[in-house]
Amino acid sequence: MRPATSLPIYVQIRDALIERIQSGELKPGMRIPSERELVAEYRVSRMTVRQALTDLVNRGLAERIRGNGTYVAEPKVEQVLNPLVSFTEQMARRGIVPGARVLETQVMAAHGRLADALGLRIGERLYRIVRVRTGNNLPLALETSHFPYELCRGIERFDLERRSIYRILDEEYGIRLARAIESIEPTVANEFEAEVLDVSVGAPLLLLERTAYTSTGTPVEFAKDLYRGDRTRFVTEGRIPSP
Ligand code: GLP
Repeated sequence: MRPATSLPIYVQIRDALIERIQSGELKPGMRIPSERELVAEYRVSRMTVRQALTDLVNRGLAERIRGNGTYVAEPKVEQVLNPLVSFTEQMARRGIVPGARVLETQVMAAHGRLADALGLRIGERLYRIVRVRTGNNLPLALETSHFPYELCRGIERFDLERRSIYRILDEEYGIRLARAIESIEPTVANEFEAEVLDVSVGAPLLLLERTAYTSTGTPVEFAKDLYRGDRTRFVTEGRIPSP
C-alpha cells in the first residue's frame, strides 16, 4: 500500500534519520550510514539521500567531515529564554565552561537607534564591546553590547575575557539589571561573522536584541547577539496568567 504522505521522499528519509538520532540509536560522534548504504537501505537515488543528509547538516544535527562521511553532531546548547540571565550563568547552568574573546572595546558617540535605546542624546558617549562567546572553547555567539559611558566609566580596565560583564556591573558599579526586552529573529552569517564563529558564510544564526534596565528604568545595555543556529536552542516556559 502506498503510504498516506505527500512529503518528499528525502524529507521522509531525513525524518527517519532524525528519529534514529533522537532515540539514541545513532549517538553524538557516531557515523551516519554512508550515501551508498542509505541508497541500498531505502532504494532511492543517491541525489535523494544526499538531500536528506544535507538537511540534517543544515539543521545542526549532523556534521560532514570531508572525505570521511557524516557524523551525528553534539546536542545543541539549551539556554533559557530569559534576557536577564548572563551568558556566564547560562553556561554554568548547563555545566559548560564559558569563555570570551574580546574583539573590540571602543568609546563612541551615540546616534540613531543606540541613542534611543540607551536614552542618550546624540553624540553622548557609550561603550561598544564586541566579544565572541565560547562554551567549552567552541564559539557559540558574537555579542555586540553597548553601555552608556557615564554609567560604567573605565569598564575596559577589567578582564572582559574572564569575568562576566553583568557581574562587573553589579560588583564594581553597583548596577543591577531588573528588566529587559528581547527580540529574536533568524539571519545568516556574513563573511566576518562566519569567520569568528567558525561556520560557513550563509549559515543560520539567531539574532537576539535586548535592552536591559535597572529597577528605576535607567537603560543600561543595548545588545545585539548572534547565536549559532546549529549549536543553540532557546527554551521558554509559558503560563496562563491567573485571573
Ligand atoms: C547575555 C546577553 C548579553 C550580555 C551578556 C553578559 O549573553 N545576551 O546582552 O552582555 O549576557 O554576559 P556575561 O555577564 O557573561 O559577560
